[in-house]
Order: sequence, then structure tokens, then C-alpha cells
Amino acid sequence: MAKSKTVFICNQCAHLAHKWVGQCSGCEEWNTYVEESADRIAAAPVLVSEAPRPITEITFDDWSATPVGIGELDRVLGGGFVTGSVTLVGGEPGIGKSTLLLQAVASLSTQGKTCLYVAAEESAGQVRLRAERLGSVVDNLWLVSETSLAAVLSHCDQLKPDYLVIDSIQTILDTDLRSTPGSVGQVRHCAHRLVQEAKRRGMTTVLVGHVTKEGGLAGPRTLEHVVDTVLEFEGDRHHALRLLRASKHRFGATDELGVFEMAGTGLKSVDDPSRLFLVDRAKGVAGSVVVPTLDGHRPLLVEVQALVAQSNLPSPRRSAQGIDSGRLSLIIAVLERRTQIGFSKTDVFASAIGGVKISEPAADLGLALALASSVTGHALDPGLVACGEIGLAGELRQSAQTERRLSEAARVGFTKAVIPAGAPPTPDGIVGLRAESISEALHLTGMVGNFREDWKQVQPLRPNEY
Ligand code: TYD
Ligand code: MG
Repeated sequence: MAKSKTVFICNQCAHLAHKWVGQCSGCEEWNTYVEESADRIAAAPVLVSEAPRPITEITFDDWSATPVGIGELDRVLGGGFVTGSVTLVGGEPGIGKSTLLLQAVASLSTQGKTCLYVAAEESAGQVRLRAERLGSVVDNLWLVSETSLAAVLSHCDQLKPDYLVIDSIQTILDTDLRSTPGSVGQVRHCAHRLVQEAKRRGMTTVLVGHVTKEGGLAGPRTLEHVVDTVLEFEGDRHHALRLLRASKHRFGATDELGVFEMAGTGLKSVDDPSRLFLVDRAKGVAGSVVVPTLDGHRPLLVEVQALVAQSNLPSPRRSAQGIDSGRLSLIIAVLERRTQIGFSKTDVFASAIGGVKISEPAADLGLALALASSVTGHALDPGLVACGEIGLAGELRQSAQTERRLSEAARVGFTKAVIPAGAPPTPDGIVGLRAESISEALHLTGMVGNFREDWKQVQPLRPNEY
């Protein structure tokens, strides 16, 4: 019997090689190649074959979404799951993917839909136990603990579910395939098969995918273009807050943000996240500034804190949590050169409170004020927010949608905002403190020191003088 030809495929990036090599030339990872049958690799799934037609004669289905009944999930999906669509939900282990999806299918089941939840990592008993906690023990919700793709498809034949959840795609395997469960070959092959079945049966499918420590979807990264929607579930495991975003959505926008709180009885939708972030805020403490951020379409008020402390280390520490460390270094450098604040002998700790990650430059001004406030010991007015980007010359630049951010601040009860001079008029209830430069902003907020020198002239570096 002729032996089928084999090739080697990288477990991480699906790069192909004709003979085994130690290091992948695609992703440069070591020992990632696994042997695979060439026929299998070549057998790229063909979804449907049909003849080309003029565009005017092509009919289209109305992409009507069925609401899941979980407010924040429906918000991110733009109304709900579209029938027959395939969604990949990615997130770190323990973040709450299984919880979210169990709650989602339970909610759909109570609407009379038949749902099949395939637990490929846990026993059906474990899932039932969790469902008890979540109040998700409902009719029409079917559970099976299964890792074989063929068995899953045969369950679908019998049950004909409207919704199928595979938890997780990394633990499902096709026994015909030689590569190990979780390898790129398996994950890709199983996902392709499930996508085909979803389209053929009009069965809405959700795949759970674990994320690697680098933040990419392990293996499933190669799946992102196969599925219709990619949802990313993130948050800090030590905090209750969870954020859900769509990084790809064929049926709608990707700039919605869903906010959940992990409680003892599962995930709760958070309708007013700004208030949630600010509940435990200590007012009148130096080093704290509230920043009106914008995540997609959703304004969020986030407290930024800084602590600047004397250091004995030859190269002092710079620690950023929830804030980009590059941005922190840049702002420290701008403060050193454009104002009289020096950081060369101090450790700097900066964080966004509540497990949020702020990546937008609109938080620059808030961060700079928090740093200066910590250095000077001068607490800012508790009714004040700050919003603006800082340029390398120390100048303040407008952030996108300043009005929207400030309206949210006004709604939650803030009364003043430090903003760039050129920012649009402030909404009712907010007094704008307009500054051209970071040094002017420091002066306006009452920080001690003579920060009002001509900021356009670069000052010589001085030893710490505060
Ligand atoms: P889980 O959904 O199993 O995460 P994933 O599927 O992403 O790995 O959630 C795990 C965490 O959620 C676990 O640490 C316990 C916590 N949790 C709650 O706090 N409350 C609950 O009601 C549930 C079900 C889980
Ligand atoms: Mg899980």
C-alpha cells in the first residue's frame, strides 16, 4: 500500500515544511512542527459551490439578529446572534467564557430555542453544578461532555439544535487526523467542519477559544477569518470587571463595548460602568485624577493613580498597570524637560483603577496631572476630570469626541475639566480649564512650583528640584 505523503505543520502559525526542522521559519518558535498527512492539509474545505450570477439577480437573506436576552452581550453583537453564524469567543482561562455562554444558551433556551452545550473540558456534572449557581437549569438546554467531532455532529443530527456551543475548540478533535488535540491542524480542521455544518443547517454556532499568554488566540488565530464574528472577553481576574468587545463582526460594528461584573451568581450586565469604577474612590488624595475615556462608542470614567516615591535603585522603577508603559515613559520625559519636575531619583507607579486598560492618548493629561499631584502632594479638586493628548513639546492636543466624554463626566456629577485650549465648548455643568501646555495645566490646577515659564523654550535639565 502506498504510504500517503506527509508534511510538517507548525502548531503555532500553521507554517508548512517538507521535513522536520527544530525552529519554525514562520513564527520562530522551537519544536512546534508536527507530522500531518499532505492530503489532509490540501483538503481545504469548499463551503458551497455555485455558479456565478449577475449581482442584480442575487437575493440576500435579511441578517436579523435574535436577541440573547443578556443586555451587554446583545449590545456587542449589535442585537444578538445572526442565525447560522459562527462566533469565536476568545479570552484567558478563568475569565468567564464558559459562564457567559452557559448564561447565554440558558437565556435562549427559555425563549424556546433548542441549545446544545458541548463541554469538551469538563464533565456534564460540573457544568450542571455551575448552571445551578447561575440559575441556568432550564428546559431545552442540552449538555454533553464530548471531545470527538464526529460524535458532536451526530448529536446535532439527532437533536437538531438551533444553537451549538463548543467549549472549547482546542479540546475538540477529529480522530482521523494525526496531530494532537489543540494543534493548529486539529483546530483548523474542526473549526472548518463546524463552520460548514453551521451554514448548511442554519445552526448558530459559538466556539470558545483560549488565548495564549502573548494575547493571541492560540491556534485559532488562523480561524479568525473563517468565523463571522470574533468576540474578545477580557478583564483582570483579580477584579470583578469583565469587558467584551468584537474584534471582527460581519454583521455590524466592532466598536461597542460590553461591561459585566462577575458576581457569585454569574455575570451581571453593568449598565452604568462609570459609576462602578468610581465607587471606591478616595477623594482629596494626591496622585489621583479621573479621566473620561472612550472605548469604542462607550464613554467610561476611569480613575488614574500615580505614586512617585524616593528610590535608592541605580535605575529607578517605572511600573504601569492598565496604562501603556511606553506612554508613561514619554510623559515622564515630557514632564522632566517641559516643567521643573524631575523623576531621575524616584520610583514611579501608575495605574488605571478597576482592572481597566487605557490605551488612548486622551489619558495623557490625566496621567501627567496624577504624576505631578503625587510629586507635589497637592490633591486635585475631586470634581475635576482631565482629558487631552500631550505632544513632545509639552503642548496639549484635543482628543476625539471631547464633548461626548465631558457629557458623561457631567452626568456622573463632575463640574470641571482640564482640557486643551482648542477644545470645543464644554457641555452644561462643566467649567473648562483651558491650557495650551502641560505647564499651564499644572498652574491652572494649583500645583506648587513655577510652572508658568515660557514652555515653548526647552529648559535645561536640572537635578531634582521639587
Ligand atoms: P469560567 O467561566 O469557568 O472561565 P473560562 O471558561 O473563561 O475559563 O469562570 C471561571 C471563574 O469565574 C472562576 O474563577 C470562578 C468565577 N465564577 C464566579 O465568580 N461566579 C460564578 O457564578 C461562576 C460560575 C464563576
Ligand atoms: Mg471554561
